Amino acid sequence: MDQKYWKEMYENTTKKFEKKARFIGSVFVAFNTNIDDIKYVDENLIEFLDYKDYSTKENGKSEIRSVDDFKNGLLASMRDGKAREWIVKDMITYEWLRKKIEYDKRLIGGQAGIVANLLSRIGIGKVIVFNSMLADEEAEMYEKNVVMPIHSLGNIHLVKPKEAVNTKDSKTNLIFEFKKGMKVSTRDEMFFVPRSNRFIISYRPSGREPIFPAEFEDNFDEIFRGVKRVFLSGYQNLPNSENSFFKVKVQLAKMKKVNSELKIHFEFTSEENRKHVEKLARFVMSECDSLGCNERECEILLRGLDEEKLADDLKYSDYGVVKLCEAAKKIMAKTSVSRIQIHNLGFMVCLVKKKYGNPHQLLDALLFSSETVFTKSMKQIIKNVDDIDINLEYSISERGIDELKRFEKMTNMEKIGEGIFESGRYYFMVVPMKESKHVKTTVGLGDTISSVGFIGDLI
Ligand code: GLC
Repeated sequence: MDQKYWKEMYENTTKKFEKKARFIGSVFVAFNTNIDDIKYVDENLIEFLDYKDYSTKENGKSEIRSVDDFKNGLLASMRDGKAREWIVKDMITYEWLRKKIEYDKRLIGGQAGIVANLLSRIGIGKVIVFNSMLADEEAEMYEKNVVMPIHSLGNIHLVKPKEAVNTKDSKTNLIFEFKKGMKVSTRDEMFFVPRSNRFIISYRPSGREPIFPAEFEDNFDEIFRGVKRVFLSGYQNLPNSENSFFKVKVQLAKMKKVNSELKIHFEFTSEENRKHVEKLARFVMSECDSLGCNERECEILLRGLDEEKLADDLKYSDYGVVKLCEAAKKIMAKTSVSRIQIHNLGFMVCLVKKKYGNPHQLLDALLFSSETVFTKSMKQIIKNVDDIDINLEYSISERGIDELKRFEKMTNMEKIGEGIFESGRYYFMVVPMKESKHVKTTVGLGDTISSVGFIGDLI
């Protein structure tokens, strides 16, 4: 099936979603919320950082203790076109970077922050967002129908973000977005950036750990009453102790206990510490219904699960559909999630256990998520559902179409619809995505595709 078929599929599903999004009940998102100061890397910044006289001195650590650490991180990200997130360990350097560089945009950030506003803008009736710390400036960045739970006089109240402010200290991350094709020269090397992506400097003040305080946990029945879907992220910031992971496991189990219809999604982001990944799988994913990540995060997850051989095969297949399907099955077997959505450049795949839902509806949700992410990459901010404009210039990814064809030839799963396969306990879906040459931004695209894909089948 070709360009024309998928274009029609996109048009039809988008029209359907635009009409119905507001009928989805409430969605709950947590934990990581912050402000993103976004800088588009250009010639001026490269010149300001004096790269042409610079020699890289990488020390293998993902930490920012000096301006040179920053230069090394940004350079490494641009060299291989990979997203990286390094943690601030020296406040003087952090302040220097904030003052000396002029940022282009200041927006809500963190998976939970981005997803809360996005879902609200595409018309979801009620979006509840939780983070144990909220500063004034962050509160002002939320959309009108985003609410927050607060605890007062023994009860939970859902209030406007401004009424939930409890700290003066906002958390600002610095995001450096770079474009494919940009030429970078240093004293020792010259290269062209192979893929548009970003380098993130993550400021991690204490007190924002991704765990519900006891007074919220005691009131889960109130908080999750009527909630259909929960989108969680930020567990990568948990302290690496069995104790804190165990606490999270208990909280996740409790959420399902108070509302048996709830489906919980966990968004897995690049976490290189293997022991941490292993704990995320054992304590977090084991309690969740759904999991989202990109192709490289899928490889990291496999390694965390001791699946080195499959992780290598996946990498050498250039993260193709056949190996992604195998990877998803393995992860499902080892974590007990019932749905895994993995996005790559040009296509995404989704494996579900049959009891999870109707595959045609699930495919529609994926198409709408692809449409939404495409619009966001072009416009940066989706102001409302009408912004999702099916007339923007695009094509369907040739790589996506080829990957689907290759899968059809090689798999022993049975094809039951365009892009839908079944075998044994599973449905597997492959969606070629829309693409354009005019991508403005990359930050938050993974969160967008995963969250809309996860809630989309409610429509
Ligand atoms: C990470 C970063 C945050 C960014 C988000 C985008 O959570 O910490 O700054 O907004 O990724 O996905």
